[in-house]
Amino acid sequence: MTGRTTTGSPIPAVREMRWWDIDPVLELEKDLFPEDAWSRGMFWSELAHARGPEATRCYVVAEIPGEGAGEGEGKGPGDGRIVGYAGLVASGGQGDVQTIAVARDHWGTGLGSRLLAELLRAATAFECTEVLLECRVDNVRAQKLYERFGFEPIGFRRGYYQPGNVDALVMRLSDPAAPATPQPPVNGVQGT
Ligand SMILES: CC(C)(COP(=O)(O)OP(=O)(O)OC[C@H]1O[C@@H](n2cnc3c(N)ncnc32)[C@H](O)[C@@H]1OP(=O)(O)O)[C@@H](O)C(=O)NCCC(=O)NCCS
Repeated sequence: MTGRTTTGSPIPAVREMRWWDIDPVLELEKDLFPEDAWSRGMFWSELAHARGPEATRCYVVAEIPGEGAGEGEGKGPGDGRIVGYAGLVASGGQGDVQTIAVARDHWGTGLGSRLLAELLRAATAFECTEVLLECRVDNVRAQKLYERFGFEPIGFRRGYYQPGNVDALVMRLSDPAAPATPQPPVNGVQGT
């Protein structure tokens, strides 16, 4: 059943990202990362490593189910609206947040927190003992989200984001299995 926030909007469902989600994800990607958007091939390549016993990736999307859409697998494209996505790669006990994004009209509803919580659950399942990420130094909103989960700044990567030569802040969470409890939502609903 699809619930609603107290503001009346449907609560998006967070589920595994599949190949048919790439098109709507690319639309969000171009809007939210106009200078360095990932290509279709990059998402295909990531999803190729997200299934099976040798999987090293976890990619999720947040979808507002369309009319008549059921839960879970077996659906095709066009069933609902994709309003967020996130991905993590795990290797050698270390997780890396590759991407996380939420449609602008859903910012501040707790969806970024839900997606990040899902990635940390995946990191725990991959038996990661730490999770790292890079974030533009000027992206204060994202940094606040990460800090609420217990990520701490550990350094900079100079000129990491091109074009623009913008530095990256590197952040680290030492134990993804026990993240700091994020602040509860003010006027919405959290949880998957
Ligand atoms: C960064 C990003 C993913 C955050 O997503 P989000 O859905 O807005 O995240 P949340 O709602 O969980 O948290 C953001 C804010 O909303 C507040 N919030 C959380 N749940 C809320 C709710 N139910 N109602 C109202 N406010 C809420 C949080 O307290 C937080 O406020 P703060 O920034 O003042 O501390 C989103 O802004 C985004 O996609 N940005 C563009 C892409 C990007 O920069 N990605 C990160 C790259 S490093």
